[in-house]
Amino acid sequence: MFSLTDYLNQQRRVLESALDQHMPPDTEQPAILHRAMRYCVFSEGKRIRPVLCLAAAHAIDPDCESALLPAIAIEALHTYTLVHDDLPAMDDDDLRRGRPTAHIEFGEANAILVGDALLTLAFEWLGQIPAPAPYAPGQLIVELAEAAGSRGVIGGQVEDLGASSGHASVELLDYIHLHKTAALLRASVRIGAIAAGANTAELDAFSNYGCDLGLAFQITDDILDATGNTETIGKPAGSDEKNNKLTYVALHGVDASRKRAADLIDKALAALDDIAGYTEPLEAIARNILDRSH
Ligand code: IPE
Ligand code: IPE
Ligand code: MG
Ligand code: MG
Ligand code: MG
Repeated sequence: MFSLTDYLNQQRRVLESALDQHMPPDTEQPAILHRAMRYCVFSEGKRIRPVLCLAAAHAIDPDCESALLPAIAIEALHTYTLVHDDLPAMDDDDLRRGRPTAHIEFGEANAILVGDALLTLAFEWLGQIPAPAPYAPGQLIVELAEAAGSRGVIGGQVEDLGASSGHASVELLDYIHLHKTAALLRASVRIGAIAAGANTAELDAFSNYGCDLGLAFQITDDILDATGNTETIGKPAGSDEKNNKLTYVALHGVDASRKRAADLIDKALAALDDIAGYTEPLEAIARNILDRSH
């Protein structure tokens, strides 16, 4: 019988070993930067994005090996977004993945540069994997750049910083969550699927799955910020309220937010019906989002 815990542990081992192999050693000059990059990456991250990338690739081609470097590129890029998200100019948080944030541990300038370096490293790795025909060789780079840029994560972060729960609008909230979070989860499955040679219909199904899953993921993040405790979530509970953020919980309340997340996961699961391959891990990951405690 399929065990999500075993599956996640196994994939995380593969990913962490690849990250260790490909990241600059922490003794290499500038040692402070390389040490800080490793400090941020090798912490208690859930690795959901790179796991999704591998799971999508394996649903298309069980023997696919070319998704591994793209998967760790996605985790490097995601880690940069966390480092910058925590900066004093943004959410001003002092705890991440159960440890002091990069700017607390290494200073603000180094934290900015760690983020810059992880973002750059992501594209260095991605550039090593040409997408298979009929995709353009650089398609994986295009996918990640679109998801991460001003029409993706960065656009979402800008609107997130400008919004407050006092000026709430359903449309703005959805824009923020779709861009700051869903865009990268969607890109994670698309990149895995493209690396494995998915066709257009399969890619569309993965886009729908990733988008709904991503939105549900940020809704549950908002719920955990409001209802979880700092030790379990590994970051400061109540940060959103402190910053007067426009979140699902602030706008709709906890119960309606849970309901919306559950509806989105149903939609994400339905999208997988259009994929003929082995989708059990993708189904289990989706279901688990509703029950997550961190
Ligand atoms: C946190 O992402 C930022 C969001 C987009 C909600 P995760 O909850 O995946 O953080 P890690 O990688 O497990 O630390
Ligand atoms: C941030 O959303 C999403 C990112 C692009 C990092 P949050 O600000 O809610 O993420 P957490 O709660 O700090 O992880
Ligand atoms: Mg934020
Ligand atoms: Mg934050
Ligand atoms: Mg949050």
